Amino acid sequence: MDRLGGRVALVTGAASGIGRATAERLAAEGAAVVVTDIQDDAGAAAAKEIAGTGARAVYLHHDVTSEDDWKAAVARAAEEFGGLDILVNNAGMGDLKTIEETTLDEWERTVAIDQTGVFLGMKYAAELLAASGHGSVVNISSIFGASGGFGASPAYHAAKGAVRTLSKNVALHWAEKGVRVNSIHPGFIATPILEQAKGTPVEQGMLMLTPMGRLGRPEEIAAGVAYLASDDASFVTGLELYIDGGYMAR
Ligand code: NAI
Repeated sequence: MDRLGGRVALVTGAASGIGRATAERLAAEGAAVVVTDIQDDAGAAAAKEIAGTGARAVYLHHDVTSEDDWKAAVARAAEEFGGLDILVNNAGMGDLKTIEETTLDEWERTVAIDQTGVFLGMKYAAELLAASGHGSVVNISSIFGASGGFGASPAYHAAKGAVRTLSKNVALHWAEKGVRVNSIHPGFIATPILEQAKGTPVEQGMLMLTPMGRLGRPEEIAAGVAYLASDDASFVTGLELYIDGGYMAR
């Protein structure tokens, strides 16, 4: 399939998990991919592996909380591949603390990565996305961006909820400019981010609360990103797409 032939994509947090699977899928569908992360060895390995398939891919160190890093990342996409058509704001982290246990520093760190990083991405990519003629932004929120989850991780819930409405807000602002903005809300996906839940009641809870009775695979989220990034979704903007094994249907 070559749905994304000639397109240029930037995927944040692409050294691992959902971001890596997404970078691989977009490249497999024909896109040139800027793989960005703060885990340099794993990020470089991901880009190398993608390039090894014959696709175009480069790795760039890119902390999504840094304005300077965003300016450099967008500039690199333009220099290396001539523009930017697809932005996937995927980088994220979470924690399992309660509101009483969460320090202000922890709150601000989570919001900086999971929420402000998405704002900065759209802000600094805006010009290139508008020039694309078929720009698409996919922001990775969560089922926890639209539900109370386990009653823990307040900063994560607040930030992911903000990504949900921020996506709709920018979707409206860009609706006539040829840039679509959608959010994807993964359920529990087997990636390193879930390792902190191992051996806690959350681990069993994830399976019990997922009607399909299993964790999702990163590739199942990547498939949704590829759809939203492609012209198959040319009339889709402001959507929140749940890929969650039925979690939100309960
Ligand atoms: P992961 O831990 O495998 O990947 C997250 C990536 O983000 C890592 O490579 C990490 O280095 C990178 N990252 C962290 N802070 C960063 C920063 N400041 N700048 C740039 N990169 C940074 O986790 P996973 O599961 O692949 O997560 C991807 C996204 O999916 C996150 O936004 C996460 O919140 C979201 N998500 C994941 C779910 C799951 O069950 N795995 C469920 C719902 C949402």
